[in-house]
Amino acid sequence: MNVLGISGTPRKNGNSDILLQHALRPFEEAGWEATLLRLRELTVKPCLACEHCTAHGSCALDDDMHLFYDAFRRCDALIVATPVYYRNVCAHLMAVMERHYGVREKRPLAGKPGGAIAVGRGSGGGQALTIDRIYTWMLSCGALCVPGELNGLTAVADEPGDVLRQEKRLRQARVLGENVMHVAERLRGT
Ligand SMILES: Cc1cc2nc3c(=O)[nH]c(=O)nc-3n(C[C@H](O)[C@H](O)[C@H](O)COP(=O)(O)O)c2cc1C
Repeated sequence: MNVLGISGTPRKNGNSDILLQHALRPFEEAGWEATLLRLRELTVKPCLACEHCTAHGSCALDDDMHLFYDAFRRCDALIVATPVYYRNVCAHLMAVMERHYGVREKRPLAGKPGGAIAVGRGSGGGQALTIDRIYTWMLSCGALCVPGELNGLTAVADEPGDVLRQEKRLRQARVLGENVMHVAERLRGT
């Protein structure tokens, strides 16, 4: 089985990326294949609303989004991680979320469980709102929203790597991964 990890941060060693890696570990330990797509290494443009997809069933833009279209189709579960920017997901991730529009009729994520991770520097910096944005997007795609220990995973951290000193958050990232994995396995009947 395959899990898709989407990392939104433009920063190397970003805190959201670190938590995502911890969330993916239970999958890897259970023998799943993990596909980790890091937006800092890729170019995904925002949707142009040209409606080429409505007429032809595919997106007119030529960039790295094809990797996500392929991964959406192949995955059995997904985990999405983002830094909080202005109490929302970062623009890099927003572009991917918008561009799902290009394959919406095929519903590649329908019925697949997903989890969300958001890291901001402020306590009450908009992490919960940002988790909400990701889960709302998942629901719009027909995906199933799975909680971690409480809801999605939120953390307060700023400089790259800061979250490595937060044992509790690293453990909670693992719990989020385990929960998403167990839902996927139950759905599969394994
Ligand atoms: C453009 C921008 C906007 C930001 N907006 C917020 C915000 O609204 N709330 C917050 O708590 N932190 C905000 N931050 C801080 C980042 O969320 C924080 O540094 C976080 O650790 C980034 O995640 P990363 O380490 O995965 O890159 C902002 C940072 C930038 C660059």
